[in-house]
Amino acid sequence: MDHFNYHDGELHAEEVPLHRIAEQVGTPVYVYSTATLTRHFGLFRQALDWTDHLVCFAVKANSNLAVLKLMGDLGAGMDVVSGGEYARARAAGVPGERIVFSGVGKTLIEMRQAIEGGIRQFNIESEPEMRALSELAVSMGAEVPVAIRVNPDVDAKTHEKIATGKSENKFGIPIARARQVYAEAAELPGLRVLGVDVHIGSQLTDLEPYRQAYGKVAELTRVLRADGHAISRLDLGGGLGIPYRRDNNAPPLPIEFGQVIRETVGDLGCEIEIEPGRNIVGNAGILLASVIYLKEGEGRDFLIVDAAMNDLLRPAMYSAYHDIVPVAEPALGEELQAFDVVGPICETGDTFRKGVELPALAGGDLVAFRSAGAYGAVMASEYNSRPLVPEVLVKGDQFAVIRARPTFEEMLARDSIPSWL
Ligand code: LLP
Repeated sequence: MDHFNYHDGELHAEEVPLHRIAEQVGTPVYVYSTATLTRHFGLFRQALDWTDHLVCFAVKANSNLAVLKLMGDLGAGMDVVSGGEYARARAAGVPGERIVFSGVGKTLIEMRQAIEGGIRQFNIESEPEMRALSELAVSMGAEVPVAIRVNPDVDAKTHEKIATGKSENKFGIPIARARQVYAEAAELPGLRVLGVDVHIGSQLTDLEPYRQAYGKVAELTRVLRADGHAISRLDLGGGLGIPYRRDNNAPPLPIEFGQVIRETVGDLGCEIEIEPGRNIVGNAGILLASVIYLKEGEGRDFLIVDAAMNDLLRPAMYSAYHDIVPVAEPALGEELQAFDVVGPICETGDTFRKGVELPALAGGDLVAFRSAGAYGAVMASEYNSRPLVPEVLVKGDQFAVIRARPTFEEMLARDSIPSWL
């Protein structure tokens, strides 16, 4: 459930009619709902209320400072994968003790930044990384908490570009080698090994892969404990899918996900961390755009909108589906027409979807791309020198710009021309 609904003949974000945002901020623009974000975070918390836990928001899904502040104030931890994300989480007021650092390629600079600023745990993904962190920690006179990410070799049954838990993927340590790696970690100075970490992929629509992966984690935890490791924490990753289509095939709910966790690892007495991103913020955001032209092609009509693949990359990159709806509520029984919805960028790939059924629209009309709150603004670029898309946060009947659209002057000011040119 989200808070983008039609009333009074128009799509609203909570109580704000979207044309008001378009008028004041311009389009394209991302619009997020505070109520939806709050609700979704609450569902994960509720799903784990049977145990000691921390819901770490995956910052990569949406790293706007206002979104992070909202999450942090609700009590969320943060899962970060870069120095930039770490800096954002801290700037949003999240204490280091609630920040988990994931990722296969953490640099020494990033590790140092997190040790100095405070960290809940590093999720280690390889032996070289583990040794580098140990050396760094010793040189800083620190002892850092770590979990080791294992690759359970399960098929997450999701898009190949966002599956991470098969042995052929670059992530984690093969679970078969885990005992050996934990044994080495226990000997390394500067590291306090306290957990096991796993993340098998994103946009999972089936709980079975989770059940398999967490079953393997439970088994491993028992073996590691028997080997003498004090495993007190399990980081079970994120990845729970969201309904992109409004049909009856909705993915499982957070409460069902929580149940699988309870059934597989619930008896180990470990503190549980999860790292949901998309499920919290995906359906809490839309991308609002205006129609520029309606162009008649050979046997098809193009709806050219002012949002493009640089603003919302997912359709071009993963053939991802986003519902595209008119902001003006269609009248009951209004005739629909099929459009290829495209952006202005000079690439054929700048197609959001072909054959979208929409009412008759004209230049200036507003459309909304639903389910765009996750991996939307964060994956935006300035390709074709289009200013980075702005973001707005709605709460009730108020809204605020939480990232302004840069002016051309601001865009140009980042470049410099050397004196010898
Ligand atoms: N934890 C780790 C270690 C991850 O790598 C990810 C996502 C998450 C948590 C959060 O997963 P979520 O709950 O959001 O599914 N750009 C792609 C998604 C890439 C996901 C990468 N890792 C997309 O637009 O679909």
